[in-house]
Amino acid sequence: MSRVYNFSAGPSALPEAVLEKAAKEMVEYPGAGMSVMEMSHRSKEYEAIIYGAIANVRKLMNISDDYEVMFVQGGASSLFAMVPLNLMSDGGEADYVNTGAWSDKAIKEAKKFGKVNVIASSKEDNYTWYPELTADMITPKAEYLHITSNNTIYGTKVGTLPKINVPIIADMSSNIMSEVVNVNEYGMIYAGAQKNLGPAGVVLVIIRKDLLGKARSICPTMFDFKIHADNGSMYNTPPTYGIYVAGLVFEWLLEKGGIEAQQAENYAKADLLYGYIEESTMYSSPVKKENRSIMNIPFVIGDEELEKKFVKEAKAAGLVNLAGHRSVGGMRASIYNAMPLAGVQVLVDFMKKFEADNK
Ligand SMILES: Cc1ncc(COP(=O)(O)O)c(C=O)c1O
Repeated sequence: MSRVYNFSAGPSALPEAVLEKAAKEMVEYPGAGMSVMEMSHRSKEYEAIIYGAIANVRKLMNISDDYEVMFVQGGASSLFAMVPLNLMSDGGEADYVNTGAWSDKAIKEAKKFGKVNVIASSKEDNYTWYPELTADMITPKAEYLHITSNNTIYGTKVGTLPKINVPIIADMSSNIMSEVVNVNEYGMIYAGAQKNLGPAGVVLVIIRKDLLGKARSICPTMFDFKIHADNGSMYNTPPTYGIYVAGLVFEWLLEKGGIEAQQAENYAKADLLYGYIEESTMYSSPVKKENRSIMNIPFVIGDEELEKKFVKEAKAAGLVNLAGHRSVGGMRASIYNAMPLAGVQVLVDFMKKFEADNK
């Protein structure tokens, strides 16, 4: 069986060139005489790998020295607790925007640690749009504003960020490095790796240095951002192999021309798919036009049997993981950085044929 086009929401497709390089170096990393998996994280070879990866994140996202860049563990879900434990003072409060299941989880977790103000939500419309965020919405005592910049399940993304004095904390798990962002607009960005960056388990954290050192006294050591920053992401044994593969992804992105080049490709992919959905009389998008994600694209036929048939026949044609999330149904194509334009073209061609055959 040859490789398929994998439209999974995550873990998702990795660039083939990255997998091939990892395979080539799997048994013996050049000059080390062993696999990266077998290396001490304190070795010179591994230090070069992890700090090389961090340096490339800085280069790709144009991150200034005002920010710390590090890797932590426990998935993006651990950050739902780490953020309030580090950034919401005892008895303090924070503002959250509810734009989907992941925001909802972040809100539930933060409520364990203090007052959470849900300042905007699209829940009543099954998260099919993204609220416009303006400075006057912010609670005067809020210590930060938490947003999910891209909603993996519903296929929406945030618009313009409000100009506010409180730090904006973004869960960027499903759209990090998909387009150029101005890191300076954020207090902190975090992202689980398993969509655009690498294997699951690794979490990338970019945090403004003045936000470090504010963790509550009850904050577990492993949840304290300053501990990870002070120890160069190696307070304990980091997920060494996952970080190595993420490092290969960063090199691949740089070789392609960085995030600007990737952004152009991503918009071409999204335009191709949305363009056809708009044109078709069979498929439609449930997402408000102005709020559409370029990474996760849900679409429906409106007939459950036909949708099941679509997913089944697509799979047989080598287009896999196209079923929508179990909470929304329909279909969803996740077209992260590793999905080539050619893959989206094959999907659109399949959709056209399916439409013609099932009219
Ligand atoms: C936007 C977003 N946030 C958080 C998560 C949770 O990530 P993890 O499974 O790494 O905890 C996901 C997972 O899909 C996600 O899409």
